[in-house]
Amino acid sequence: MKLVIFLTLFALSQVLGESDLNNRTFPDGFKFGAATASYQIEGAWNLDGKGVQLWDWYTHTYPDRIDEQDTGDVACDSYHKWREDIELLKALGVNHYRLSISWSRLLPNGTVNNINPKGIEYYKNIFKTLRENNIEPLVTLYHWDLPITLHEIGGWTNPLIAEYFAEYARVCFREFGEYVKTWITINEPQSTCWGGYAAGAKAPGYSLDWEGLYLCAYVHVLAHAKAYHVYDEEFRSSQNGRISIVIDSPWAEPASNSSVDIAAAQQEREFVLGIYANPIFRGNWPQIVIDNIATRSKLEGFARSRLPQFTQEEIDFINGTADFFGLNTYGTGLITLQNKVDEDIGTPSYSLDKGTSSTVDPSWPSDVPWVHQVPWGFRKLLKYVYEQYGHPEIIVTENGWADKSGTLNDVDRISYVSQYLSALLDAYYEDGVNVAGYTVWSLLDNFEWTNGYTQKLGIVQVDFNSDNRTRTPKDSYHWYQKVIQTKCLVENCV
Ligand SMILES: *[C@@H]1O[C@H](CO)[C@@H](O)[C@H](O)[C@H]1NC(C)=O
Ligand SMILES: *[C@@H]1O[C@H](CO)[C@@H](O)[C@H](O)[C@H]1NC(C)=O
Ligand SMILES: *[C@@H]1O[C@H](CO)[C@@H](O)[C@H](O)[C@H]1NC(C)=O
Ligand SMILES: *[C@@H]1O[C@H](CO)[C@@H](O)[C@H](O)[C@H]1NC(C)=O
Ligand SMILES: *[C@@H]1O[C@H](CO)[C@@H](O)[C@H](O)[C@H]1NC(C)=O
Repeated sequence: MKLVIFLTLFALSQVLGESDLNNRTFPDGFKFGAATASYQIEGAWNLDGKGVQLWDWYTHTYPDRIDEQDTGDVACDSYHKWREDIELLKALGVNHYRLSISWSRLLPNGTVNNINPKGIEYYKNIFKTLRENNIEPLVTLYHWDLPITLHEIGGWTNPLIAEYFAEYARVCFREFGEYVKTWITINEPQSTCWGGYAAGAKAPGYSLDWEGLYLCAYVHVLAHAKAYHVYDEEFRSSQNGRISIVIDSPWAEPASNSSVDIAAAQQEREFVLGIYANPIFRGNWPQIVIDNIATRSKLEGFARSRLPQFTQEEIDFINGTADFFGLNTYGTGLITLQNKVDEDIGTPSYSLDKGTSSTVDPSWPSDVPWVHQVPWGFRKLLKYVYEQYGHPEIIVTENGWADKSGTLNDVDRISYVSQYLSALLDAYYEDGVNVAGYTVWSLLDNFEWTNGYTQKLGIVQVDFNSDNRTRTPKDSYHWYQKVIQTKCLVENCV
């Protein structure tokens, strides 16, 4: 077995053309990790007092919206197999494991009047065991599984959700803060607000393109800031941890060198990444977002801008509420101008407010529509985030390759991750970007939202046809293990 793995890795190094990879050693203290999220792996959707949450409801109510009508009812069954997951992490040698807490497993109704002791116990066992194995838990409080009670009162369009979120966060800090020193409030607001409240492509499936995304962004940013202040004021001094948010974005590359496309690419960045990052790292929405939506709203006949405005008090409250920058990214887009700010007035819409369109180069390796192997785009994104948001420490909290086959011999995943890690080293050593960690998505093949189990992103295969949900490490797992051991992407680093 060992020999086979060795030979496979040797053969891979030939196939991949290692000479292209950055040959510097990863810096001292650089953290390698792997990630998952509660609904994508846990299963046990109705066991031990867990309440119903948004994706339980969505998959059960609209089965046709999920590939092959799949659900996360059982998923990887990590509710029962978490010890096995930790064994895999330990053998892999990661410094950290990013996972999320299911809000409704802890608070079945989403609210602190009803705390589920079984939920506390489940997560406490995991965090404790990770600590005993020298693996740092990076814990996301919200990875898309909103308690259904809170969805029913408007979900992420209701500012009260920010209060409930902060109250839930307080329970987590209090119960788990002894073991958890790195907190992430919210995962990928962009995906939720675009997919869930504007494009109708993710739960709750609303196509409220004119207003939904802005309300959702407003409530997310507020919720994050409230939870940050709870930690900062009530727990930081005794627990000595850190807290931030995870923001996702592809790199936006101008489709041509025309000044119009260069400006369009920056507009795309502000409307996709800046809407969430700017209030938190610089205060307020990006200026172009404020201006464009105000202009179009007026031309459309609205009495005021469709973008909720922050008060100065809110700006001060939100500004600077992050101890690092958590970044998720999977691809790059080529951006052109679609419409000018005063063109195509008629249907109020986020896409028209943004005024840009995005395509991909067909030569970029890809097996699913949302993941493209463009390592230079990753390098540019890291540099942009670092410079745009005040030189924060960046932790790459998700990045990885999706394939449809789920093969154990996953050369494409190794190629993608090695190229991205190489680009990360370029950003660190050549561009001076303080990127301190990398987290591969995902430890396990899992429930990939509306794509069900048709897209695999794990470095460990899960047999979803077996009751045992048998886990088998892929070649990428062994490859990553070696990178973590040697802190080096090539045979000999300099
Ligand atoms: C390391 O990479 C640099 C830049 O590509 C190259 O000049 C150098 O020869 C490489 N060193 C080794 C030992 O491969
Ligand atoms: C609260 O949760 C419990 C148990 O999950 C459930 O029986 C009850 O109906 C919920 N209450 C509300 C208001 O949803
Ligand atoms: C833009 O200009 C740069 C530098 O001259 C060049 O490398 C790049 O290929 C050009 N991009 C496009 C899309 O033409
Ligand atoms: C946000 O905080 C920074 C640093 O304190 C400050 O320079 C900036 O002006 C603030 N932004 C706003 C919009 O108030
Ligand atoms: C269950 O899966 C684990 C790995 O996930 C494996 O080690 C074990 O042999 C499996 N048991 C059965 C009965 O298949």
